[in-house]
Amino acid sequence: MLSTIQASAATQYFLDLEHEFGAHNYHPLPVVLKKGQGVYLWDVDDKKYLDFLSGYSAVNQGHCHPSIIQALVEQASSLTLTSRAFHNNLLGIYESYITEYFGYDKVLPMNTGVEAGETAIKLARRWGYTVKNIPENMARIIFAEGNFWGRTMAAISSSTDPSSYRQFGPFMPGFDVVPYNDLEALELAFQNSHVAAFMVEPIQGEAGVVIPDDGYLSGVRALCDQYNVLMIADEIQTGLARTGKMLACDHENVRPDILLLGKALSGGTLPISAVLADDVVMLTIKAGEHGSTYGGNPLACKVAMASLKVIKDEQLAENAANMGELLRNELLQLESPYISSIRGRGLLNAIVISHPNPEAAWHLCLELMQNGLLAKPTHGDKIRFAPPLNITKNQISDAVEIIRKSLPALDHIK
Ligand SMILES: Cc1ncc(COP(=O)(O)O)c(C=O)c1O
Repeated sequence: MLSTIQASAATQYFLDLEHEFGAHNYHPLPVVLKKGQGVYLWDVDDKKYLDFLSGYSAVNQGHCHPSIIQALVEQASSLTLTSRAFHNNLLGIYESYITEYFGYDKVLPMNTGVEAGETAIKLARRWGYTVKNIPENMARIIFAEGNFWGRTMAAISSSTDPSSYRQFGPFMPGFDVVPYNDLEALELAFQNSHVAAFMVEPIQGEAGVVIPDDGYLSGVRALCDQYNVLMIADEIQTGLARTGKMLACDHENVRPDILLLGKALSGGTLPISAVLADDVVMLTIKAGEHGSTYGGNPLACKVAMASLKVIKDEQLAENAANMGELLRNELLQLESPYISSIRGRGLLNAIVISHPNPEAAWHLCLELMQNGLLAKPTHGDKIRFAPPLNITKNQISDAVEIIRKSLPALDHIK
């Protein structure tokens, strides 16, 4: 329990340093990690944990995957950054690799996920003006309620979460929000001929693993076709095998016009993101009109190829599908009165905690931590369970045993 957790001297030392010298813009669990391997993490006192967050799905391939680290180290000692002022001998090879992998004409490499989102919006606006003939400065982008795509001004301008946008205004114009999983509302929004794009997460991750009804994504695709609106799929959290398919859109055989990838594109080693689209969209942005110092650097190109290769070579999508089902089944069998819902697809899962204390999910995460499993609440009462995708059956059983053992701690909080 929170009140009884006594940090070790080593842990406390690092907690104090961060508290004193770092901005207070996060609220982490009081654990200080120093090593990772596969699905495991170790803290500064050498205590071992199962990682059930995977760096918010950036570590799908497992911590320090040997072939990703090998690519990183080898390339780091040869060439890391040239900037796009010059060509390098890996960018074209990576571009050809990733476009073939996902079946798009072109890729635009960026770094963080939120930059991929920003890039997609610029592409959509530019396409709106030059292809759809929307009058200059009138383009609108539609988002879904509950979306999360990062912390830039554009990202928070589309947010419906006060903790993201409160007291950060004024906001970006030209954005509209419709309820998630509501095709009627989307069609209504599409009546405005100035709409250039709809940006959507196939499963809303940060909102607490919100899964839309079957048919939603294919319905979005059909409406986008009908109204000549670009479908932007934000697969930064759901993509790269996390939900049991390479892309979450694959569950409904939907191909977005603009595909956003990030996080596990580097297996958790570097910020690498990618925007994929066909020529009709991508070539609307011309030389000198968009970019980033680090985007497409040779180190990132090499690491991204290694990370993508691991996903296919190790059949991580299949394993995520199988282990996810096993995890949800085993959680169901716990029959805990404190778990009001278990949901997920593949290894993107969440439980909803039902308890009179609004801090119960946080307390449970502290107890899980004490017992050797790391997970973090989102939106108060939800806990995401998203381990690396190479987790084994035995490790799933170990995790469920830890969860079973930890739940009774909720008997003691008011
Ligand atoms: C769906 C989605 N899009 C975009 C982002 C932003 O990615 P980054 O934090 O790398 O900017 C996130 C981060 O959690 C995300 O979950």
